[in-house]
Amino acid sequence: LAKQKEELINLHQDCFEYFKEQLYLRKNIEAAKYIIKRKIAKETAKKFGLGYCPEKNDLYERLSKKYSKEIIDLSGIFLERNGKNYCRFEGRLIFPIFDTMNRVIAFGGRIISDSLSAPKYMNSPDTLIFSKSRILYGLNIAKQSRANEFVVVEGYLDVISLHQEGIDNAVGVLGTALTQDHSFLLRRYKNEVVLCLDSDEAGKKAALRSADILYQNGLMVRVMELEGAKDPDEYIRKFGKEAFLLRKQSSMFVIDYKIKELRNQYDLNRSDQKFRFVREYFEKILTPISNEVERQEYIKKLSEMTGIDENIITREFSKTAQR
Ligand code: UTP
Ligand code: MN
Ligand code: MN
Ligand code: MN
Ligand code: MN
Repeated sequence: LAKQKEELINLHQDCFEYFKEQLYLRKNIEAAKYIIKRKIAKETAKKFGLGYCPEKNDLYERLSKKYSKEIIDLSGIFLERNGKNYCRFEGRLIFPIFDTMNRVIAFGGRIISDSLSAPKYMNSPDTLIFSKSRILYGLNIAKQSRANEFVVVEGYLDVISLHQEGIDNAVGVLGTALTQDHSFLLRRYKNEVVLCLDSDEAGKKAALRSADILYQNGLMVRVMELEGAKDPDEYIRKFGKEAFLLRKQSSMFVIDYKIKELRNQYDLNRSDQKFRFVREYFEKILTPISNEVERQEYIKKLSEMTGIDENIITREFSKTAQR
């Protein structure tokens, strides 16, 4: 197994070098154009090791000279169609995925000519050396940042754009749900996280779920909202670094963010709605807080919002907690 892992690492390194070489070849000018279209500077592309996989390529044949069929199959890089092996990243801009030791262990690919039939992004499947739920894109670079916190975003281009603008603590979850393993990984380096996910419904839902996981694993979590852009990449291109940093500064502590979201759903001047709000607040805000000091603080807040006596809330909450 150790031998297989070592060979897989070598194979990824070879592919990595091949893809990089292809990016600036004349015949692949479309790829270089796409990089320009996305406003990625040459130095940035180099820093992240971006590459390109041509639609026509001999990658499989090249690798066959050096690696067994078994290893090539285990890499997950190739798919079989009509008995022929082809690279799953054909026609895509390549984002190598590094582990914290700077070894390439997987790839992501984005289609460069938007077509309706092909999925926009394609990633390596989980393999002996890669598990999507245990890797954060850009952590190999961001772990060196002197910032107190990590900025967690959704995608490759979000990470790359933020770094290009000097926000060197951005890492990406690659579209998947944030896991407990991601929390452990982040906590190895820093104990604060700012979640900056896409502003669509999916992103907002993911922010709430992710915030809970991070918070329950001992990280201090804030949630950042982007107004006027669909994701951090678009935001920083439209409004610039300073605007992004201001937004980051005014990001809310996760519990306050959840209260704000909940508060928006009810009209507290109507008693029926107020009672429902209190019930939801018990369930969604107070119950997940395990620290008594913090919980007392949020009981006080509920009392201020609703005008209900603090002692009554405390008593009623301990009743529901026992049920
Ligand atoms: P998004 O769907 O938010 O990408 O996915 P986007 O911002 O629209 O993409 P661009 O800006 O046009 O390029 C965010 C991330 O989720 C993962 C990728 O890592 C992507 O960067 N993803 C998304 C996938 O793995 N597969 C998909 O089909 C879509
Ligand atoms: Mn999208
Ligand atoms: Mn998204
Ligand atoms: Mn985007
Ligand atoms: Mn996005």
